[in-house]
Amino acid sequence: MEGNEEEKLTESDLSKIRVCARMRPPFYDETKAQISMSSSLGCIEIKDTSKPAPVNSAPNAKNGTERFNSTPSTTSENSGNFGIKRKQTSIGVSKRYYLDEVFAETVSNRQVYTKFCKDLVHRVCNGYNGTIFAYGQTSSGKTHTMIGKKTDPDSIGIDCLAIQQLFDFAEENESSEITIWVSYMEIYNEVINDLLDKEGTNLKIREDTSGTMGAYVEGLTSLKIQNYQEFMDIFERGEKIRNYAKTKLSEKYTDVYSSRSHTIVRLMVQNKPNNANFVKDDEKTLHLSYSVKYSILNLVDLAGSERLSDVGMNRTLETSHINTSLFVLSKVINSLAEKSKSTHIPFRDSKLTKLLKNSLGGNSMTSVICTVSPNFDHLPLTISTLEFAKRAKNIKVKARANEVIDDHDIVQNKL
Ligand SMILES: Nc1ncnc2c1ncn2[C@@H]1O[C@H](COP(=O)(O)OP(=O)(O)OP(=O)(O)O)[C@@H](O)[C@H]1O
Ligand SMILES: [Mg+2]
Repeated sequence: MEGNEEEKLTESDLSKIRVCARMRPPFYDETKAQISMSSSLGCIEIKDTSKPAPVNSAPNAKNGTERFNSTPSTTSENSGNFGIKRKQTSIGVSKRYYLDEVFAETVSNRQVYTKFCKDLVHRVCNGYNGTIFAYGQTSSGKTHTMIGKKTDPDSIGIDCLAIQQLFDFAEENESSEITIWVSYMEIYNEVINDLLDKEGTNLKIREDTSGTMGAYVEGLTSLKIQNYQEFMDIFERGEKIRNYAKTKLSEKYTDVYSSRSHTIVRLMVQNKPNNANFVKDDEKTLHLSYSVKYSILNLVDLAGSERLSDVGMNRTLETSHINTSLFVLSKVINSLAEKSKSTHIPFRDSKLTKLLKNSLGGNSMTSVICTVSPNFDHLPLTISTLEFAKRAKNIKVKARANEVIDDHDIVQNKL
């Protein structure tokens, strides 16, 4: 941690997935839904304004949610209600979701990072695997959160802020030498492509048999980086070949490009002490050794769930791959949240979940940023995002520091 700042994570934070919700600002001419956020309670509330206030509104934070009124509303769209008739869904329910943090639309990327990601990245410097991913419907702000805008210091994304923190740590830390390698990949139409090497397409996932590093991608480029600028140059290269496209929805509101693939920036961090120790081997001979900490940080920008009608028929295959893999992710999250001994966890049903197996319930600290839209028309997807958030919050992980004696060369190849 910088200066005298203390890490705020508790032991219980290390044993579960942490989840926050972040709302993006409304676009010009969007009709806002009835969503309010209370950062002091860590609560996001979807309101049904046609109902009287709940009789008992004591928060039930353990549950992650509180149902205020389970009777579906039947009022018409003109009354300011959620428009059950208009959308033909059963959303006439006021609900509160209790998460680890909530961030309103005025909160910057840097503030989200400081409050929700910084402690995790500090642990990564000290041998813990970490994963941060943004989940949410299309146009809700995942790429804005993870990649951001390099031109504005407050809007730099989580990827760049994490790299800055790792290099700051390396510079301030005099007792050890920190080495960082980077990879950048995308999963497009269920195929893994190397974003740092155009030739690297259709790559295969392999399991690390030791179980500490999780799955890795065979043949993926991994480059040692010396400073922030080197990362930015490499990252820009990857961004140029990543699959973005305009969709009907992104053009309607923002005229920006929508992510058509899931992308993962993978950082491998090695923390090697400057002072070696004397240890005895089996023959009781003294020799020099040191214990090296190593970790992997996954920074994931998912493609967003979307309706085919919002995308355009020319993107049918892409959209169905995106929706299928997000469906498998949801199934994995559901199974893990309800985990009993007999539960089968369908990690193998998609490349994304296969790759993130360690991050979801394994040896990793994991933080999920659920991005939501304030748009009235997006309410069904907002609710499904928050249901995902609620379930993800129930998942247990087993993060522990990875340490090896004198073994750092092996680790290097496991990105
Ligand atoms: N918190 C925010 N503050 C300011 N602008 C935002 C915020 N969140 C999103 N935006 C803007 O909203 C638009 C859509 O955001 P973004 O591209 O991040 O969505 P997405 O969730 O990645 O969508 P997709 O799944 O289609 O890739 C962009 O113009 C982005 O700059
Ligand atoms: Mg995106």
